[in-house]
Amino acid sequence: MPVFRRTKRWLVLLTILLMSSIFLTACNEPASILNTQGPVASDETYLFWVILVVASIVFVVVEGILLFAIFRYRERPGMPNPRQIHGNMKLELAWTAVPTVVLFIVLFFTIRGVLQVAPEAEPASANTVEVTAVGHQWWWEFHYDKYNITTADSLHVPVGTDIHVNLFSNNVIHSFWVPQLTGKTDVIPGHNNTKWFIANKVGTYIGECAEYCGTQHANMRFNVIVETPDQFQTWISAQQKAAVAPAPGSLAAQGQALFKQQCTTCHGIIGVDATKYVNTAVVCNDALPGSSPNNTTNCPLGPNLTHFGSRDLIAGGVLTNNKDQCNPNSPDLMQTCNLAKWLQDPQAVKPGNDMAIGQLSNDQIKSLVAYLESLQ
Ligand code: CUA
Repeated sequence: MPVFRRTKRWLVLLTILLMSSIFLTACNEPASILNTQGPVASDETYLFWVILVVASIVFVVVEGILLFAIFRYRERPGMPNPRQIHGNMKLELAWTAVPTVVLFIVLFFTIRGVLQVAPEAEPASANTVEVTAVGHQWWWEFHYDKYNITTADSLHVPVGTDIHVNLFSNNVIHSFWVPQLTGKTDVIPGHNNTKWFIANKVGTYIGECAEYCGTQHANMRFNVIVETPDQFQTWISAQQKAAVAPAPGSLAAQGQALFKQQCTTCHGIIGVDATKYVNTAVVCNDALPGSSPNNTTNCPLGPNLTHFGSRDLIAGGVLTNNKDQCNPNSPDLMQTCNLAKWLQDPQAVKPGNDMAIGQLSNDQIKSLVAYLESLQ
């Protein structure tokens, strides 16, 4: 008997600890669905709470009755056999009707939630920003057709504005997820989903791939950078500019020459080896006439680097683009600069990725860092 009591006390303690850790940790996490910053995520989180509350009530009531029955009616020494009964119409009806009502409550809130975030609920607005998110193995490409720009790893959007996202993949299934702004939607080859969301507050939000898509699935992250409309327009204008041309004879010019030799099979820079941005969802869509899904000349394998220096992340967020640590003349370049580390051995940083660059000398890396980071 004392053993049983001790176990019981431990069980209660363990339950309280587990519950408190759930509630204490989840609330302030940057990528938490409980800390929402937009109506779509809020509606989804509301449904989460409704189901959690209903499920908790069911859990407490059922476990309460169970524990009460176990302790109140447990066998004691010298007790006679319990009264043998068969069936109870009232009870049978009650435990059929009550769960039915409970499930209909959950169904009501689920349908309500689905309708709140459905494509039909997208607010019609002249300001809607349309963007195509392309899932690659393993990084995200973002194309703004209206502005004719393409970027990678960071999705810039204006605050308080409807963002309409076209989801495209020509490889495997990915899933687009920004926990604080919008729930997951699969990015399926041959089946182009769309979604929409609005961000209520300026800031940077973490996005991630939420469907296992290969070795580096966990390193398929992105940032959603929510800006004021003015900042967003400034960013658009900067991205629309041609790539910075390096001064003749400079280190960056050597980097550009090296880029032309080594990198143009997969990467494009407007004005260097590419003439314009392409919409991957069009040129790589085998369902559309004139597309060439397996043609790497038309269908980009790696991110367009025209404005690489303005980005925050490298290679699907596996590294940050820490420009301030990337002075090419610093003797510590290889230790401090993430871009240098990436160029030195991309397969060590992110095993399985498509970077098939030959071994570069430190001087070559220096020149590439100088060039790529100059591409603001
Ligand atoms: Cu893409 Cu997981």
